[in-house]
Amino acid sequence: MVDRTVGVAVDGGTVDDPELDRLLGQEVQRLTASLDRPLDVLEAGCGRQWTIDLADRALHLTGIDLDREALAHRANVVGDLDSAILGDLRDAALVAPAAFDLIYSACVLEHIPGAQTALDNFLQWLRPQGILIIRIPDQDTVFGFLGGHLPHAFHLAYEKLVLGNSQAGRPGHGPYRTTYGPEIGLRGMRDYCAKRQLIVERVYRTNFCEQPWTRGPRFSATNVKWTAMRIAMHVGGLLSFGRLDATYSDVILVLRRSL
Ligand SMILES: C[S@@+](CC[C@H](N)C(=O)[O-])C[C@H]1O[C@@H](n2cnc3c(N)ncnc32)[C@H](O)[C@@H]1O
Repeated sequence: MVDRTVGVAVDGGTVDDPELDRLLGQEVQRLTASLDRPLDVLEAGCGRQWTIDLADRALHLTGIDLDREALAHRANVVGDLDSAILGDLRDAALVAPAAFDLIYSACVLEHIPGAQTALDNFLQWLRPQGILIIRIPDQDTVFGFLGGHLPHAFHLAYEKLVLGNSQAGRPGHGPYRTTYGPEIGLRGMRDYCAKRQLIVERVYRTNFCEQPWTRGPRFSATNVKWTAMRIAMHVGGLLSFGRLDATYSDVILVLRRSL
């Protein structure tokens, strides 16, 4: 059986996405309370939108992404970036060392072959005591396992048919191809944190089946569709003889550089 436990002190439990964005905002406010200046923030693999609720905290936001169209949308339409850098997160020269107080990377590392290079760059780009927030699917869950093993055509069909994303597959939109290295999940990230002496401040989990948009009136199409997805996940868990967890899909780690 895979050990997916974290210490009680750091376990933030399983939450939905809006609650996660609120809680991450609180974590950032708490961990950066001593910095009496605007935060230097990097969103690594920024895509089309920022979600963490940082209320009125002053910040200078840099976004890096490899997708020219998604970055252009973020920079010119959303317009919340102070600097936009088109590039590969595995390229250490993209930004200066020790430039950021906070690096946030959501749903990105599972798309990068050799993701450890990107993680090592994040540590180099962070200031001492800086905060790193990583969101990834967990390959020890049913959802994560399928995400890492099903062909890209399934990801595209899932986005279109289950999530109802009519833009899926168009330039500047996901799904992006997945490639799972050992870091993609709680187990691998715990090993990575131990190796690099990163302090684990908090761990949250989310379940893609338990979100505000997956709940609807009893016999609605939404309710029927997501009930079927929940059942499918639990059947997957049973078929794996407990090796794969069906109670969550993504893991979110709030980490701090010790020096
Ligand atoms: C699933 S999207 C997530 C976007 C955003 N973080 C969010 O949560 O909405 C993955 C993003 O990672 C970017 N990406 C993938 N590989 C990358 C790499 N090697 N360097 C920089 N960005 C990359 C993609 O272009 C895409 O915008």
